[in-house]
Amino acid sequence: MPDGWTVFHIPINRRQQYAVGRRRLEWALLYIYFDDAMPYLTLEDTIGNTPLIQLQRLPGEETARRNNVILGKLEGNNPAGSVKDRPALSMIKRAEQRGDIKPGDTLIEATSGNTGIALAMAAALRGYKMVLLLPENLSEERRQSMAAYGARIVLTPKTGGMEYARDLAEQMQKDGEGVILDQFANPDNPLSHYEGTGPEIWRDTDGRVTHFVSAMGTTGTIMGVSRYLKEKNQRIRIIGAQPEEGSQIPGIRKWPEAYLPKIYDKSRIDQIEYVSQASAEHLVRRMAVEEGIFCGVSAAGACEVALRISQTVENATIVFIVCDRGDRYLSTGVFPA
Ligand SMILES: Cc1ncc(COP(=O)(O)O)c(C=O)c1O
Repeated sequence: MPDGWTVFHIPINRRQQYAVGRRRLEWALLYIYFDDAMPYLTLEDTIGNTPLIQLQRLPGEETARRNNVILGKLEGNNPAGSVKDRPALSMIKRAEQRGDIKPGDTLIEATSGNTGIALAMAAALRGYKMVLLLPENLSEERRQSMAAYGARIVLTPKTGGMEYARDLAEQMQKDGEGVILDQFANPDNPLSHYEGTGPEIWRDTDGRVTHFVSAMGTTGTIMGVSRYLKEKNQRIRIIGAQPEEGSQIPGIRKWPEAYLPKIYDKSRIDQIEYVSQASAEHLVRRMAVEEGIFCGVSAAGACEVALRISQTVENATIVFIVCDRGDRYLSTGVFPA
């Protein structure tokens, strides 16, 4: 310790120090000093605190003339590669805290997408067995990613779709084979975004965010972030992106009224914008080539909406969610070689 230094004992954990350390030089010095005394990170600590980055080329001159900034939040930087790492961990931890489950138990979920991979990772890291029910036509790379984390995969007939997989999961729970977390109805899904994603956006824009755009699947992201940001500033506009009629974009849906997720509360959304599969697929390729952002198609849908909004407003800070990474979509052919 150099002469004249004062030792401050600051009751913050290593992860918070890391976040602060990246933002301010003087704190970085404190971080280095305390390094040896602090416990090491676990994988769990690396979920969340994702980067918020400014688009450089796609917004073009009109956005610059209007003095708007468009920022993407890179959720693909989470350890299992998507925005779903947050709710997966949250649903397991909170069920555990309530005493509903304990390590060694079996969890069951019918899911075809990122949630399956995230839950498989979160179950592995907290010591649970994971059974995932998937329609048999799901891409090989997704199946293999889930299996890599030790999940047991049950394939269901593709003719039955997700509905059949969900019914079978219910039956398995009734037969005592495990516990369903149910991301569509579980309040711990939006809670993870209320406690993590929302505060991070507020912090990393220094409270300047004016618009928030998210693609809508379970709606957990948009529900949780909306609740947090509106508590901070009622005037922040919350915009949901959905595929237009007849378009298929993995991970998101235009829900018929009867199938709306139970966690969805339409009063938390100011505006819904529709995107076509073709335009989102075109933009996902441009995002990689022109911005170096290699992401999934739903993220491009949200980006398209952010760019659209930027043409109609001024002095705005528009944040959109980059839900996952592009390598998850290679077998779909959306990035032809
Ligand atoms: C690729 C992708 N995009 C967007 C979403 C939407 O996120 P949320 O379920 O929080 O609405 C999901 C959800 O699974 C997804 O997998």
